[in-house]
Amino acid sequence: MNPELQRPKGTQDILPPESWRYDKMRRLALDIAQQYGFNLIETPIFEQTSVFLRVGEATDIVQHERYSFIDAGGVNLTLRPEGTAAVARAYIQNGLYNWPKPLKLVYWGPMFRRERPQAERYRQHTQFGAELYGSESPTADAEIILLACRVVDRVGLENPEVRINSIGCAVCRPRYRQALVEYYAGRREELCQDCQNRMEKNPLRLLDCKIDVAIRQTAPDLADYWCDDCRAHIESVMDQVGGAGRSIRRDPYLVRGLDYYTRTVFEVGHPSLGAATALFGGGRYDGLSGQFDGPSAPAVGFGMGIERMLSAVGNRLQPEPASVVYIAHLPGFENQAQLLGEQLRNVGLATECDLLNRSLKAQLREAGKTARFTVIAGGYEWEQNLVQVKDFTERSQESVAVPDLAGYLLNQLRNPEQNSDGGANL
Ligand code: HAM
Repeated sequence: MNPELQRPKGTQDILPPESWRYDKMRRLALDIAQQYGFNLIETPIFEQTSVFLRVGEATDIVQHERYSFIDAGGVNLTLRPEGTAAVARAYIQNGLYNWPKPLKLVYWGPMFRRERPQAERYRQHTQFGAELYGSESPTADAEIILLACRVVDRVGLENPEVRINSIGCAVCRPRYRQALVEYYAGRREELCQDCQNRMEKNPLRLLDCKIDVAIRQTAPDLADYWCDDCRAHIESVMDQVGGAGRSIRRDPYLVRGLDYYTRTVFEVGHPSLGAATALFGGGRYDGLSGQFDGPSAPAVGFGMGIERMLSAVGNRLQPEPASVVYIAHLPGFENQAQLLGEQLRNVGLATECDLLNRSLKAQLREAGKTARFTVIAGGYEWEQNLVQVKDFTERSQESVAVPDLAGYLLNQLRNPEQNSDGGANL
């Protein structure tokens, strides 16, 4: 195929059955969010570029990875690289700070980052994210972490291990930053080029460099600089998450790549993805909404990478079968089969009919691949107002009156054992 007509690097076409696994994941995640009392929010997939500049110009996703363009009206726009800044903008613009507190929001959708394409790193990825506004309590941080863990757990990735850290607050972080810069300044010659730049712009990120790992081992520890409030906060989050039966441990090098965090930061990985690849990550960002010309509110949230979740889950998350009923027909009965199909769809039964004029044998073969029930329409039985129904699960076959068909199938699905008596074995 002409390379110019192919999809852009780092993007994917999601084909069935993978597309159904995505969909199943979405429903499952939103169901769990509802259990925790979260509401769904949708924001545009592009924003004015200034919105994302508020995330912090020193972050990779703003500095090097932005998909920005000037539209025909001269407006500078950016495809959203993440959801938190967009939700913060919506929070202020729609006056959501006047809504009852706490405000709990979730979203699901595509994010765009012009990253170097590599395993589990896409230029368009999907995030399920949650943002909780209006509570400073460590219980809010714990609830956010527990919600994300429950999603991971429910898709079949048992016992996710949460790595957590506190990057302190406006009181204690400056003291730590200074100690860190002093420590690294004495070793400037040994640092990689990125770390030399981080020294000026974003010293905390010296800690999560994947190259200079030996140097950080003797670096000052954040925990020695936490103020009493920050210490009590992280201890309480860890107690609550651990107390709910989740694995959680402090990672002194976890700082995360976004500038808006304060206190709590956390990530969860998975053995199948490699140490540097997180399933989800997030933290507290009490100052962000204040940067959108509105009242500042405490907030905490996470973003979960759905492609990574699905890759780690493998085929443990199976899509629902495409159809429950297949209506096969004898020659000349295709219209009747389709009408019967409509009656079954009316009561919510996923039903397929033959559209290719296949022989009955070929239709039955097709039915056996996907459906639980095969209904055979046509011939002498049709004149008696009857159809044959084969149940592949119960391995039975029965004649059923056409007007009773929908009720019969629903009943079989509800209570298969009680109803299987009397059917001839296939
Ligand atoms: P983030 O760590 O940049 O945080 O992204 C969240 C998650 O999205 C990651 O843990 C990862 O699973 C997935 N992800 C990120 N980039 C890619 C990529 N290029 N390809 C595949 N998956 C990716 C945020 O975006 C914050 N907004 C999270 C947050 C919400 N913090 C507070 N509230």
